[in-house]
Amino acid sequence: MKAGKLRIASLFAGAGGLDLGFIAAGHKVVWANDFDKDACDTYGSNIGQHITWSDIADVKVGEIPDYDILIGGFPCQGFSRANVHRVQNDVRNSLYLHVISILMATKPKFFLLENVRGIKALNGGKDFSEILLALGESGYDVNHQVLNAADYGVPQNRIRVIITGVRKDLAKKYQYVYPPPTHSRDGGELPKWISISEALSRIGEPDDDTGLPNHVFSRYKVTDRDFTGHRRTDPHKPSPTILARGNGGGGVCAIQHPKNHRRLSVRESATIQTFPLSFVFSGGLMSMYRQVGNAVPVKLAECIAAGFRKT
Ligand SMILES: C[S@@+](CC[C@H](N)C(=O)[O-])C[C@H]1O[C@@H](n2cnc3c(N)ncnc32)[C@H](O)[C@@H]1O
Repeated sequence: MKAGKLRIASLFAGAGGLDLGFIAAGHKVVWANDFDKDACDTYGSNIGQHITWSDIADVKVGEIPDYDILIGGFPCQGFSRANVHRVQNDVRNSLYLHVISILMATKPKFFLLENVRGIKALNGGKDFSEILLALGESGYDVNHQVLNAADYGVPQNRIRVIITGVRKDLAKKYQYVYPPPTHSRDGGELPKWISISEALSRIGEPDDDTGLPNHVFSRYKVTDRDFTGHRRTDPHKPSPTILARGNGGGGVCAIQHPKNHRRLSVRESATIQTFPLSFVFSGGLMSMYRQVGNAVPVKLAECIAAGFRKT
């Protein structure tokens, strides 16, 4: 049986892809935090004013209202495979310690954390084991699973680790069940993965006065160097992963439109991340691309948010 409507506190909320999915699944976000002003503006105007703008290090647990699930995609640039300079002591890799201290101080029923697959390989896997151990020692039964967003109806190959926890004293009463795929690579019993050209079929060219918000793109010249962010896009497949920043080699990660004539616009990138067309991003061009690339696809978030069960 589903655990019903739960109250969410959201760390590293960004523009709110993860939160929007939890809301679509019937939950209520009571508090959120991020230190990126543009992301907070985007979140505030589209989702709600419950977001606080501050560094996580400055969050006082007393400001977080009562809640049931702690969620968050703790920053991943240090962990990402797209970052070839991945280093173990990157300060962004220790932000999870704030998650642990908030968990220990507030003891919610559950947590759900999202990260890049690269987190599992860091330092030969030792760092991931350490994170899982620390989460367990905070009083939770911990699980993790690697999911591809394309398996959940998102028109994008985006592989992420979802770590979940149920408070140990509630283990007989509650559980978390990972969602079964709704789509598959080749079709068959499940519908086939959604291709990038299907996803963008109803979006006209930015210069055609479509009236769509954020339908702007950087004039960055796309190149075909068979390198992350510099590959031709196969119109018959899901999009390559929409990334937040550069490709790790100091270059831009510019996913090409399926017609391969220009970079995707912010609106198109957001559509591939399954944000609704009415969701409007704030900030300059690079900031908007970053917010979109940082997000958990809304549709994937909705699927994972449905996994909290009463036994
Ligand atoms: C991977 S993104 C999360 C995206 C979000 N889950 C979504 O679905 O839209 C990580 C976020 O952490 C925020 N962040 C990074 N360091 C932070 C810090 N020290 N304090 C607060 N927020 C931080 C970034 O601004 C970014 O929005």
